[in-house]
Amino acid sequence: MSSFPHFLVMPYPILGHMNPLLQFSQVLATRGCKITFLITEFNQKRMKGEIEHLGEHMKFVTLPDGLDPEDDRSDQSKILSLRRTMPSKLHKLIQDINALECDNKITCIVVSKNIGWALEVGHELGIKGALLWPASATSFASFQSIPKLIDEGIIDPQTGLPTRKQEIQLLPNSPMMDTAKLPWCSLGKNFFLHMVQDTQSLKLGEWWLCNTTCDLEPGALAMSPRLLPIGPLMQTDTNKSSFWREDPTCLNWLDQFPPQSVVYVSFGSLAVMDPNQFKELAIGLDLLNKPFLWVVRPSNDHNKVKNAYPNEFHGSKGKIISWAPQKKILNHPSIACFITHCGWNSIIEGVCGGIPFLCWPFFSDQFINKSYICDVWKVGMGLDKDENGLISKGEIRKKVEQLLGNEDIKVRSLKLMELMVDNSAEEGQSSKNLEKFINWAKG
Ligand code: UDX
Repeated sequence: MSSFPHFLVMPYPILGHMNPLLQFSQVLATRGCKITFLITEFNQKRMKGEIEHLGEHMKFVTLPDGLDPEDDRSDQSKILSLRRTMPSKLHKLIQDINALECDNKITCIVVSKNIGWALEVGHELGIKGALLWPASATSFASFQSIPKLIDEGIIDPQTGLPTRKQEIQLLPNSPMMDTAKLPWCSLGKNFFLHMVQDTQSLKLGEWWLCNTTCDLEPGALAMSPRLLPIGPLMQTDTNKSSFWREDPTCLNWLDQFPPQSVVYVSFGSLAVMDPNQFKELAIGLDLLNKPFLWVVRPSNDHNKVKNAYPNEFHGSKGKIISWAPQKKILNHPSIACFITHCGWNSIIEGVCGGIPFLCWPFFSDQFINKSYICDVWKVGMGLDKDENGLISKGEIRKKVEQLLGNEDIKVRSLKLMELMVDNSAEEGQSSKNLEKFINWAKG
């Protein structure tokens, strides 16, 4: 029997989950652990085999996701149905792997959220499990609080929606939040009911690892000793898990600009912008009269939203790309600020680059993440909607100017960056936690 643990790592098949689990796997692999990384057949085809060369200790395996080839994989209600067919296939896959790997059987399963059933499969087979939560510890704590929120009559047990308008403090030392902005409220009743079940299954994980640090969310991390911060996960060569081709030319393009002069605009892998809002943003970026780098993902055939630029837009100061090497960009000296949807991975990457944020949350945990940026760490500002529900071009220009003129925010952003780096240094808290986790997996 090998003295190094063998992990089966399985992300829910969206980029915001695959990226942190892939980075985590690489960290484990560099410490001698063996990794079997499970992706869906659909995603393997989509990534054209690019991630399969990430190191000798990592092996990639696939399973069908059970959806039709033409189904929209960005539709969460569709991919939540993985539970229908995947558990039995996973059961067999693990048995087959272990039959072949007599000396190095799978010792631990690590999953992201939404697929707690994979921990149930591991449990049936006597294999221990852990969760790597791909968002903030605070959002994890909010899902754990669902029974309490129901008991106290704060949310409806069937829909998860607030029973009345109010602000609550979910945890000591966390910002007040509007209950309408709880992470499940924007995702519909079925998603809420799914999460109630998933949160139960995820309790089978003996550790709830989180891509965060003890400085970022001390209040949420105090919730349970099982919640272990291991962030920031920041290997820069792992954006290979892209569904779109990265445009490498933008790094050379950035080189021509002075330090802290370019506005970076990106809304992650899922957010879809209303066409009128898209036009307003385009004109707002023109109005800045500054260089900007804007990621506009190719239009999605399923939702038929087309990114139509308005006639007035000339974009002469900017560069528009369909997918960026984001971590490299956020570490480029020319970047002045980041207009972001507040996805947790983007936030961790921006904080590690010491970049001030302009927050434009779309759904789910992104509202809580915005509160941390603006109200707790104070490393950014929020963009406010007007009476038509749009973030206007004038608002974009005004807030970029205010943000770039705010020296206190810049100083705090750099301080927060230093704290992040300290955590992943050899004696840092996250490194120690990782060691603890690997030792547990060996036992
Ligand atoms: C999802 C959810 O939407 C988010 O709310 C949750 O916190 C995490 O899971 P996503 O919307 O894709 O994620 O956002 P984010 O968490 O920011 O992840 C996007 C990833 O794609 C980041 O790692 C980022 O580096 C990468 N990216 C994004 C690129 O590599 N290039 C780009 O052009 C844009």
